[in-house]
Parts: sequence; structure tokens; C-alpha cells
Amino acid sequence: DIKGVVFDLDGVITDTARFHAQAWHALATELGVKWDDELASGLKGLSRMDSLELILKHGGIEAKYNDEEKQRYATEKNTNYKHLIQQLTPDDIYPGMKEFLNELKDGGYKMSLASASKNAPTILEHLELTDYFKKIVDPASLHRGKPDPEIFIKAAELIDLKPEECLGLEDAVAGIAGINAAHETSVGIGDSDVLTEADMVFSNTKNVTLENIKTNMEK
Ligand code: BG6
Ligand code: MG
Repeated sequence: DIKGVVFDLDGVITDTARFHAQAWHALATELGVKWDDELASGLKGLSRMDSLELILKHGGIEAKYNDEEKQRYATEKNTNYKHLIQQLTPDDIYPGMKEFLNELKDGGYKMSLASASKNAPTILEHLELTDYFKKIVDPASLHRGKPDPEIFIKAAELIDLKPEECLGLEDAVAGIAGINAAHETSVGIGDSDVLTEADMVFSNTKNVTLENIKTNMEK
């Protein structure tokens, strides 16, 4: 039986995936790396440094910069990103997600956050959702980022549940892979043609309800 839900944040609760993409796009352009849909999709869910590495690889320049230069570029992106998220308000919560969080809370389900982002607490503050997530995996504590299952296993441990008792919500291909490898039920948010490995996919967050999830699990 499902007793808890593990949430990704960016692209699941709010559309910060678009700000990450915007900031990485600007950096890629500065580095002379061509931006395309494949790169944009592949970047979703990856840690900050893994994202930079993928961009460099995409441009065939993975050996061009030393660690210090890479740190500088990652910081430059993050400064740009932090500026973009300043504008977030509770109105930016995806349709239906606040209702879903309340449904879970009222139903006695446990919740934790499995976001790779070091900016997650700031975003939760802006969205006024901090009280819903008392349990947050610290991305700095991870040995491996998504698609590794580590973050999702830790998110279940934080709420004292077995992975089998958890749903995992994700908008990223890398995230769905991590949830599946952790043996949680994967709920994709986005395009079913992209999130092909998910146990179920919702293209509109308005439809993310316990009833709809349970119906899909029976299929
Ligand atoms: C994930 C995003 O949630 O967090 C990625 O999907 C991002 O795009 C990652 O790279 C790390 O975020 P941050 O804010 O720590 O750079
Ligand atoms: Mg995401």
C-alpha cells in the first residue's frame, strides 16, 4: 500500500525547470555550445555540475576547462538562476498541486522532497510551501545524482517508509529512472512520449489526484 509521496520540485510543483533551462541556455550560448531540445531534456534533473558537464560534452569541449573554470561557470549560471526565481509567488504553484498536497496531508500520507537543487528551500519559501516539506534530502549529502536512485531511497528513509510504499513524482527522464531503480512507483509529469519509463504520466498537474493515481496503478 502507498503510504507516502516523494516529490521532485523543479518542473513538478512549479515551473522552475524553465528558469534552469533559461540560465543554462545563456551559459551554453556564451560557451559556443548549440542549444537544442535533446540537450534541454537531458539536463532536467541533473545536479548543477553534472549539467555543466553535459553541456560541455554536447559541445564537444569537455576537456577545455579546468575545475576552477567549471566552478566559475556553474556559479555564473546559479547567480543568473537565483535572480530569476526571485519573482516566484504562491501563484506560480502548478494548477492542482496545492490541492494534491492538502489531499495527502489530510489523508495522513507522509511527504518528502527529493530535489537535486540547493535552491529548493528558497523556492519553497517563495511558494509558501515550506510547512509541507519538513523532510528534505540534502543534495550536498549525495554521492551520485539522478538518474542514480540514491536521492529517492534517502527520501523514503526520511519518512520511515520502504520504497515500495512510496510514489515518486518527477518531470525528468533522469528522475523517472531513479525512482524506478529505487523501486518506488513512478509518476511522470509531462509528455508521455518523453517519460516513456514512468509507471504513469500526467500531462496536466490538475489531474494529479490520489484517485487518478490509484486508478492508474490498477491498470
Ligand atoms: C534539479 C533541476 O531540480 O536541480 C536541475 O531539475 C538542476 O535542472 C538541479 O540543475 C540542481 O539545481 P541547483 O539549484 O542546485 O543548481
Ligand atoms: Mg524536475
